[in-house]
Amino acid sequence: MQENLLGLIIIATGKYDRFIEPLLSSADKYLLLGHNLDIYLMTDKPYTGKCPERFSVASLNVPHLPWPCPTLYRYKWITQYADLMTASNLYYLDVDMLFTNKVGEEILPDETGIVAVRHPGFYVNCGWGDHKTGVVSLAHVEPSRRLFYFAGGFQGGERTAYLNACADMSINIDTDISNKVMAQWHDESHWNHYLKHHPYRSLSPEYCMVEQVELRKKWGIEKLTPRIVALKKDHLLIRS
Ligand code: GAL
Repeated sequence: MQENLLGLIIIATGKYDRFIEPLLSSADKYLLLGHNLDIYLMTDKPYTGKCPERFSVASLNVPHLPWPCPTLYRYKWITQYADLMTASNLYYLDVDMLFTNKVGEEILPDETGIVAVRHPGFYVNCGWGDHKTGVVSLAHVEPSRRLFYFAGGFQGGERTAYLNACADMSINIDTDISNKVMAQWHDESHWNHYLKHHPYRSLSPEYCMVEQVELRKKWGIEKLTPRIVALKKDHLLIRS
């Protein structure tokens, strides 16, 4: 049987389950129209909401852990469930996001196999979003190489290439944890470190935009078309 073109990996434990249905409905409207897609839903309870017809949802059980574990352990869980994720291309997306404009085949990987999205806050100035991760962390990036910072909220690639990246980062994160070290932006810092050592294709922040217009103006990206938007939320309430 032909595998689906893309599988979207989302993690929604605890109160994050409220974001699943709106995300799926927005993806149905804008993401890879005309294709059937896989949704790999990592969650601590069965999903009972609506599911668009062209998506098939596989629920993968993960525990609800205190923040930042759910984000930090994403690569471990992806590695753990790798065999069940059979789509040709795998993309992780934060669940508290919405598709707001067309997202088509331009997001698919090139020969590098890996796709990364420039962080909206460090796009115009080409700056770096992590200055606190010390040399003791395996996510440390030398100051001279701190250019082109990528967002953790949307990332992926060709199945094997992305799974290899996740397995590598999961090992590094486990090593950091056993050394009692935490990178400043958790999984995102490790992703940026990974991208310093492997080739990738880069997408503009249109694919990981902020909801707040004032931030877009401050960062000089107000002319970009928001295609995938991170929702502004009450972190304390939702992470509890
Ligand atoms: C913030 C964002 C964080 C992290 C950080 C990097 O704007 O909320 O999640 O990406 O930038 O400096």
